[in-house]
Amino acid sequence: MTSSLVAENVNLKRGGQDIFHIEKLALHGGEVLALVGPNGAGKTSLLLTLALLQSPTSGNIAFNGVIAGNGNVLSLRRRMAVVFQDALLLDTTLLHNVTIPLRIRGVSKVEAAARAEKWLNRFGIAHLASRKARRLSGGEAQRASLARAFALEPEFLFLDEPLGALDYPTRKTLLGELGQILKDMHMTTLFVTHDFTEIPYLASRVAVLYEGRIVKYGTVREVFGEELLESKVWTPWESA
Ligand SMILES: Nc1ncnc2c1ncn2[C@@H]1O[C@H](COP(=O)(O)OP(=O)(O)OP(=O)(O)O)[C@@H](O)[C@H]1O
Ligand SMILES: [Mg+2]
Repeated sequence: MTSSLVAENVNLKRGGQDIFHIEKLALHGGEVLALVGPNGAGKTSLLLTLALLQSPTSGNIAFNGVIAGNGNVLSLRRRMAVVFQDALLLDTTLLHNVTIPLRIRGVSKVEAAARAEKWLNRFGIAHLASRKARRLSGGEAQRASLARAFALEPEFLFLDEPLGALDYPTRKTLLGELGQILKDMHMTTLFVTHDFTEIPYLASRVAVLYEGRIVKYGTVREVFGEELLESKVWTPWESA
């Protein structure tokens, strides 16, 4: 099944300051949309709002045509998963970190164990299943956090700089693996980053957020042209 998310006239103010104003942003079913922009552009605030973890000051967010509101936020949230820059693991084993959210969402013990096995394998950490989360390296912990999110088999996946805390070689390896997994899964995904070199590995389309506004939007090629391939220093918001 494909899913879509449409945000219209969504605003967030904090302490009288505009954090973002989005006239329209759509995620089509099964696509990976990259949200890119400099530090402080409002990427995390927008991701939290679209994931219904932060209420907008005004505006509508619709999931497959159903507008999020007081009555349906909890059930909509159960169809999503979020991964942050820090792994945010519980102080228990890696296996439990993956199975607990599944059990909370009503997945049977047998099914939770099967999904955990599948996703720990897919992210290359099955051999660490009984390891305490606090004894994992940063890269292993981030793999755990991704495995936990994918095991939920969410319709909507939100990734907020999931590789940002990793060293360059680890990031490069995981980037390739994550790109392949996202291609295979066709999950409707918002991928936030300020490192635009990650984008071609993961996303088909890009929205550039600058000072709380979408200043560019299109396919990876439309937004970056050939410059992404040629230059490591060019930034899309400079020419916005
Ligand atoms: N809890 C808060 N209260 C007030 N202002 C906030 C709060 N959280 C974020 N902001 C402000 O909102 C703006 C956008 O922050 P946000 O964290 O969304 O940016 P970002 O694009 O994710 O940045 P980064 O790349 O550093 O993660 C910033 O000016 C920030 O200071
Ligand atoms: Mg952020």
